[in-house]
Amino acid sequence: MSFESIPAVHRDDVAEILIPADRIATRLDEMAAEIDRDYEGKEVLLIGVLKGAIFVMADLARRLNVPVAMDFMACSSYGSSTTSSGTVRIMKDLDADIDDKHVIIVEDIVDSGLTLDYLVRNLRSRHPASLEVASLLTKPSRREIDLPVRYVGFEVPDVFVVGYGLDFAERYRGLSDIVVLRPEAYGG
Ligand code: PRP
Repeated sequence: MSFESIPAVHRDDVAEILIPADRIATRLDEMAAEIDRDYEGKEVLLIGVLKGAIFVMADLARRLNVPVAMDFMACSSYGSSTTSSGTVRIMKDLDADIDDKHVIIVEDIVDSGLTLDYLVRNLRSRHPASLEVASLLTKPSRREIDLPVRYVGFEVPDVFVVGYGLDFAERYRGLSDIVVLRPEAYGG
């Protein structure tokens, strides 16, 4: 496999390109078309969960034809470890009310489901007109709490993935592809 799309400084850290940028783009086209159909005649409020979701937010929002507003939240559950601690805290809340809005939470990945479970319960209590979830990736094998994710990009196996917003210790977010790290790169 050619790693030419990976910056040279990171190339030795990568075991495999799991989802190349062109497949991400194609899948986002499909997800956006589905959202356009489902929300025809409505305005959508995308809520991006910082920081991982920034590229999904930007690329999904630009593909939608329905009117789109955007807001962001930041939650903390991970620190720099590779597994969830199970503790969710809001580090940055929304700028505006969401009552009567058609909200879609936008995530890069649903792993244990703990972050999303907390967010869904928190946002539901603010009385949106509707609340759904769009996530580029899901790792079903790691799920601790089952919750419906209406729009899913790709199901991924239980491997350590980074890129396209996903990090390890704040690195690799800017990679265009979703890649699997070599265990040596994360001390695994
Ligand atoms: C990641 C991801 C989700 C969450 C998913 O965020 O963006 O928000 O973990 O994991 P879970 O399903 O096990 O709760 P992270 O806390 O790593 O922050 P980041 O987006 O800033 O990298």
